[in-house]
Amino acid sequence: MKLNIAVLAGDGIGPEVIEQALKVVNAIGKKYNHEINLTHALTGAVAIDATGNPYPDETHEVCMQADAVLFGAIGHPRFDNDPSAKVRPEQGLLAMRKKLGLYANIRPTLVFPSLLHKSPLRRELIENADFVCIRELTGGIYFGDKGRNETRDKAWDVCEYTKPEVDRIVRLAYEYAMKRRKKVCIVDKANVLETSRLWREVAQGIEKEYPEVETEYLFVDAAAMRIIQWPEGFDVMVTENMFGDILTDEASVISGSMGLMPSASIGTHTSVFEPIHGSYPQAAGKNIANPLGTVLSAAMMFEYAFKLMDEANEIKDIVNKSLAEGVVTVDIADGGKAFSTSEVGDWLAAQIG
Ligand code: IPM
Ligand code: MN
Repeated sequence: MKLNIAVLAGDGIGPEVIEQALKVVNAIGKKYNHEINLTHALTGAVAIDATGNPYPDETHEVCMQADAVLFGAIGHPRFDNDPSAKVRPEQGLLAMRKKLGLYANIRPTLVFPSLLHKSPLRRELIENADFVCIRELTGGIYFGDKGRNETRDKAWDVCEYTKPEVDRIVRLAYEYAMKRRKKVCIVDKANVLETSRLWREVAQGIEKEYPEVETEYLFVDAAAMRIIQWPEGFDVMVTENMFGDILTDEASVISGSMGLMPSASIGTHTSVFEPIHGSYPQAAGKNIANPLGTVLSAAMMFEYAFKLMDEANEIKDIVNKSLAEGVVTVDIADGGKAFSTSEVGDWLAAQIG
């Protein structure tokens, strides 16, 4: 198959982790006879420096032409403490999500047997956890009206959702659950928020279409508690943009390192695959960042964008092997030797074939 992949490495550790994922992607391409065409494009702070725009039109074109987008990370500390900055790297990510119509962000919570002791949570609480958070990604408070009054002593961010936006994401969650343990948990704040009441109304309609699926409604505060108290109770969780952002960082604690967590953003034009971690500027250029979240995102790309399951499973298997054999970076290394980012990438690529 011909696989056209747009590569947006971005900022901080983005280029380093992307480089390792590409070693794996190229090795898989070679083994399974796929023609891999990579087109690199700028986003984030590096794009601001080069063009003034964190998601330039050229980059958007490259993404639109691609079968899938592999994304590293964006963000730079020089913007974080400057509330007056007019353009920020994160706006690039949000613009990309909006323009590519990436409405569904799929974030699995993965538990690796060899890493159970790395989680601050007790083994017996987390060992059977296996759930997926489906986060709405192009609506809600992230994209509503925002502003300041004239005297600038008041600010607002409006949270809005339309019925069709809720319908497509909740439906996706039910379809997803049908391929899993057939349980959907709708997370909202319907005791307070009107948008949440719209979510419930829409979800209650869809629920009736899936009698085989067990549906549960949970307020977001209770869901936050349940994620660490009884994670195995969840199968598919679906929620609005900001709740999903917060709950998935929380859920990453279950697997022991945020550096391991992949995600897929399913869009109306193309799909984007990216680790859930940020640009981790403290580690940039040091060859210490964990590339596995990006490598696992590449596995999701083979699964979701190309429907190539053998390729996806082989990548997941070699990642499991690297964890079991301790070929890992310092964040998850156990006392003994920690491997560098590039050593892990080389080792993974060498395992294929
Ligand atoms: C994420 C990130 C982004 C978000 C930031 C960088 C804008 O935290 O992908 O989870 O809030 O969505
Ligand atoms: Mn986040």
